[in-house]
Amino acid sequence: MYSLPLLFIALTTFASSLSVPTGTAANWRSRSIYQVVTDRFARTDGSTTYSCNTNDRTYCGGSYQGIVDKLDYIQGMGFTAIWISPIVENIPDDTGYGYAYHGYWMKNIYALNTNFGSGEDLIALATALHNRGMYLMVDIVVNHYGFSGNHASVDFSAYTPFSSSDYFHAFCWITDYSNQANVEECWLGDDTVPLPDVNTQLDTVKSEYQSWIQNLVSNYSIDGLRIDTVKHVQMDFWVPFQEAAGVYAVGEVFDGDPSYTCSYQENLDGVLNYPVYYPVVSAFESTSGSISTLVNMINTLKSGCPDTTLLGSFMENHDNPRFPSYTSDESLIKNAISYTILADGIPIIYYGQEQGLSGGGDPANREALWLTGYDTSSTLYTHIASLNQIRNHAIYISDTYLTYQNWVIYSDSSTLAMRKGFDGNQIITVLSNLGSSGSSYTLTLSNTGYTASSVVYEVLMCTAVTIDSSGNLAVPMANGLPKVFYPESQLTGSGICSL
Ligand SMILES: *[C@@H]1O[C@H](CO)[C@@H](O)[C@H](O)[C@H]1NC(C)=O
Repeated sequence: MYSLPLLFIALTTFASSLSVPTGTAANWRSRSIYQVVTDRFARTDGSTTYSCNTNDRTYCGGSYQGIVDKLDYIQGMGFTAIWISPIVENIPDDTGYGYAYHGYWMKNIYALNTNFGSGEDLIALATALHNRGMYLMVDIVVNHYGFSGNHASVDFSAYTPFSSSDYFHAFCWITDYSNQANVEECWLGDDTVPLPDVNTQLDTVKSEYQSWIQNLVSNYSIDGLRIDTVKHVQMDFWVPFQEAAGVYAVGEVFDGDPSYTCSYQENLDGVLNYPVYYPVVSAFESTSGSISTLVNMINTLKSGCPDTTLLGSFMENHDNPRFPSYTSDESLIKNAISYTILADGIPIIYYGQEQGLSGGGDPANREALWLTGYDTSSTLYTHIASLNQIRNHAIYISDTYLTYQNWVIYSDSSTLAMRKGFDGNQIITVLSNLGSSGSSYTLTLSNTGYTASSVVYEVLMCTAVTIDSSGNLAVPMANGLPKVFYPESQLTGSGICSL
């Protein structure tokens, strides 16, 4: 059978070219994202000791090659995509707020920030991800450039391609967040680092940005975009921009108001779920947090947002204090992480959550991960791995899991039970804010949809529970820990809980 080897080669080549479906919104819905600050995740030399004082606000040496070398660490938690810092060239200055190690102070959108590596290194990262069936999400900025010094001395000629003040809004600081024109047309920043506001209303600017993003996505095989400062750009910019990009985009609309923030989802595939971020943090940051405020927001978003299943679900990022800066209670932390991964939307875990990093506001929340030693046996690393694993499995059984909107089937002053999925492919997640010293009690849940007298597994502890003859689930609560249930019959062969 001389033709077999040839056939084999043809099939495997074919298979690998198909292994990464295009980064449409529908394909991103099933992903789980690990967000890295490129400069702080991993160095090319693999150092676990190179010092990085976040207060210095300087480059610490994280690189694309460093990320490639640590993909096992990321994939070992069940992530299927990464989001990296903005890649384009930034201002080189040592400003009053340090260097542009975070990537948000643009200078030239047609050149790369070489502190993170070369164009070849970035392409190698995209290839390494795609070889694992993972996606690359790149952070981008269109709203502004960056400058070091007084706003009156901005040197527009140093910018590419918008090399004159004609391409920018006339100077004014944003002073009134209730005035949308002021938010869109005036400048962010201050007289230490002003952020000259690109005039995105100009047709020349719109078409330049559209051709730029189309080329950027294609040059570096980018699968999706995270877009910075979306609410500072007028609404009509986004539809043609995203069409030109041709991939899923999740916008940062840094605002907790659901009607304001969700309105941007009429023009972009997704937005970061800031409306639920605030009540999630306040529900779980202490044992007196409000569960009912969170439940109300979940229900408001379900009916008021165009598609909750395409929102970015997160509880930490580079702009907000890390959750463990509010509480060191491991039960509370585990509950909040469980919500992030098992509620509606695309989960986004910020690098270092798995090691319990606890830095407060910027710049303290941008620690060098290498100093933790990349421990794959830490409590939160394995917790995140278990949550991604059951979510990935439910998606594998049927992607209707994803489009079924998370339903709060029970809540009281310290407990929230939610159901996502149906037809025997539903995950029931029970969350508590009683904390590590919470008492032991049994909660009885109806509306789980589980078959009477069937067996379900609590997949975090791997204990079996039998549904009673009326279809109720008895949940053994203890130490304020979250509980995650799934039918045993669907776990056969999954490896989850050794089944
Ligand atoms: C994409 O690559 C082409 C060809 O090398 C180059 O001319 C163009 O500037 C690149 N565009 C971007 C946005 O990187």
